Amino acid sequence: MLNLLKHPLLTHKLALLRNKNTDTKDFRETLDEIAGLMAYEITRDLPVRDVTVETPLGKCHTQELAMDVVLVPILRAGLGMVDGISNLIASARIGHIGMYRDHVTLKPMTYYSKFPDNLPDAVVMVLDPMLATGGSSTDAIQVLKDNGAKTIKLVCVVGAPEGVNRIMKDHPDVQIYLAGMDEKLNEHGYIVPGLGDAGDRLFGTK
Ligand code: PRP
Ligand code: URA
Repeated sequence: MLNLLKHPLLTHKLALLRNKNTDTKDFRETLDEIAGLMAYEITRDLPVRDVTVETPLGKCHTQELAMDVVLVPILRAGLGMVDGISNLIASARIGHIGMYRDHVTLKPMTYYSKFPDNLPDAVVMVLDPMLATGGSSTDAIQVLKDNGAKTIKLVCVVGAPEGVNRIMKDHPDVQIYLAGMDEKLNEHGYIVPGLGDAGDRLFGTK
């Protein structure tokens, strides 16, 4: 299911990210801020359990998170979303999956994966700013399922209809979260209007 997150701060920061004049430093900071704002919404349904803590003045019956959270950025660009979320969820463990799109076929090639051992019991958030054809995300989700993940949320910033439809078809159990839903892909598989090449803008490689 697609969840298009709407908030004035998200819209404002996404406009900054899209702007071609935003430099690498501001792009990096803004992507992390967007990821944090998205995480606030996405974690609304996380289960909690009762706990009692001692305040300086006495006992307080309150609640804490009852489920592990695992963040899995798709390298490279997903790395730009990790700090913004892990700053909010200190206990989150982090896996990695390395993929790049072949520039001609647009098919994703997986070159690395490493996950913590609590995937089956955790809420797993797959992080990638761009959901274009959906090839990278659908393959990453399948690798996570093959490694035991059961509850998966796909957190992207900008999506194209092609990518959203692909994930809904391949993984109807996965919740998709976007801050912006764009019009289309161009002939090179880039999201239009999008924000360009997220990895290059994040790491200053072009
Ligand atoms: C980009 C982006 C996604 C993927 C999206 O990565 O960060 O991972 O493309 O495209 P898709 O939905 O059509 O699969 P890229 O392959 O450019 O690698 P990079 O992050 O290392 O630059
Ligand atoms: N990857 C990107 O970085 N940008 C796009 O628009 C599509 C894929």
